[in-house]
Order: sequence, then C-alpha cells, then structure tokens
Amino acid sequence: MKIISCIEELRDHLQGQLRTAFVPTMGNLHDGHLSLMKLARKHGDPVVASIFVNRLQFGPNEDFDKYPRTFQADVEKLEKEGVYILFAPTEKDLYPEPQEYRVRPPDDLGNILEGEFRPGFFTGVTTVVLKLFSCVQPRVAVFGKKDYQQLMIVRNMAKQFALPTEIIAAETYRAEDGLALSSRNVYLSEAERAEAPALYRSLNAVAEEVRNGHLDIFELERQAMADLSRRGWKPDYISIRKQSNLQPPSAGDMATGEKLVVLAAAKIGTTRLIDNLEI
Ligand code: PAJ
Repeated sequence: MKIISCIEELRDHLQGQLRTAFVPTMGNLHDGHLSLMKLARKHGDPVVASIFVNRLQFGPNEDFDKYPRTFQADVEKLEKEGVYILFAPTEKDLYPEPQEYRVRPPDDLGNILEGEFRPGFFTGVTTVVLKLFSCVQPRVAVFGKKDYQQLMIVRNMAKQFALPTEIIAAETYRAEDGLALSSRNVYLSEAERAEAPALYRSLNAVAEEVRNGHLDIFELERQAMADLSRRGWKPDYISIRKQSNLQPPSAGDMATGEKLVVLAAAKIGTTRLIDNLEI
C-alpha cells in the first residue's frame, strides 16, 4: 500500500484509473470502517482510502484535539484489506490556505437532527468530501448508514453537482450486543460501554411500536427519550423520519406506509453516540 499525503503525487499515481473506489475516513479504524473497504473492493479497483481529521466539521467545543489518532495501527489494517493507496494529507496539504469556499447543504437537510445540535457540521463534511473527491476522482465512494444523514447529504450533493461519483451505502456494523461501532466508543468507561447498547435497544423498541401500528410518533419519541433519561443518558433527539428526505412523516404518510427511519443521538457520560434504524 502506498501512503501519500501530497495531492499532486496522488493524482500522478491515479492517472488514467477509471474505476477507483474510495472510502473517506477520519482514522481510528474499526471493523465498521473495514467493512466499507470490503464493499469498495466489490465495486471498483483500485481501492483508495483516506484518513484526515477534518477540522472544518468540528465545533469549537468538540473533540478535534482529542479525536483518537492511531495512524500506525490504521495502516496495518488497511494493508490487510488490500487498499492500494492511503491518502493521508496533512492540514497543510488539504488546506494550504484557509478554506473560504464551502459547500452548504440546504437548511431542511443540513440544519435538522445532527445539524441542529452541531451547527456547521454538515458544511464541514460536504466541503471536505467534495475536496477529497476532487483529489481522488473516484467512480464510486462508500459511506456508512451509521451516519445516515451524512450519507443522504453526500448523495444529494453528488446528484446536484452532477459529480461523476456514485455513492454506495454500507450497512451499519455492530458489536454482538448491538452497539454500532464508532471511533468515539474508545471514550466510554467500562460501565458506559456496558450501558451503551441501550441506545440501539431503544431504537428497536420504537421501530417495533411503529410496525405494530402505533401512529402517535411524538408520544413514541417522548417515551423513548424519557426511558433513556431515566437510565442516566442525556438524549439530544430520538426522531422518526421519512427515509426519503428525513422530514417528519405526516398522518397521511403513516397511513400510506411511507418508509421510515428512527434516528437518535444521546450522551452517556461525556460521550455523544448516534445511531439509527430503518423501520
Ligand atoms: P468516520 O467517522 O471516520 O467514518 C468514515 C466512514 O465510516 C463513514 O462513511 C461512516 O458512516 C462509516 N462508519 C463509521 N462507523 C460505521 C459502522 N459502525 N458501520 C458502518 N459504517 C461506519 O464520517 C466521517 O468519518 C467523516 O465525516 C468523513 C466522511 C470522513 C468526512 O470527514
């Protein structure tokens, strides 16, 4: 595997490649990330991964400085997955000057759910993803459903800008007890790690109620948040939305069997976890 930090050098290495499959990450790789590499291999060749902790998508009080960085271990994992190039730019490589041009998602997608609690987050994501796409020029790129709203926003961006990159969704990879793998799980204490699967259980409980015909979604959301609060969590949201545009379903949508997804973000101790489940 070649490790490249310079954009020009990356371009030289990828010149003429028409089937590149790309997996952008922020490192601290776990089996969820590696499942994306495996899916990428099925959809293209060569596979290019990137590791870049993108300052633009972190708020002033978020964990940019303490975000786990485990470069050497990440390299070994990517080697095993048959990744051809790891693009690992420094901030100077990717942002040699302040990034003043930004891609701002529409408010009704970028300022809801995660965007409401992390202002500017999705602008940071779409800006870096567009820039990484411009460096790698992939035919396909793989994103995880774990970050459901991110996947949808990137997909819409690719469509609206007519990018030549097809966005492929990977299923959420979970530990045996149901907890979605996440780089931020390393922040959890032993007791918090034991409690963490309660988030996924609560998503399942909500989904089950909806499948059983419970139509009062506000009541379901309220109950689920109250249950988590009782267990010591601080939930930001548990929200039942339409899969198509992440807007709340109307009574008519519920009656016509519109496809739904339930999304959640909640803090346990000081660690904020997100998860979601398609209903
Ligand atoms: P990061 O959190 O490192 O995630 C990289 C990719 O791995 C994302 O597409 C994410 O959805 C996926 N992923 C993470 N955990 C997963 C799991 N348990 N199952 C399946 N997929 C999982 O998301 C980012 O980085 C950044 O925002 C990025 C897109 C790289 C832009 O900076």
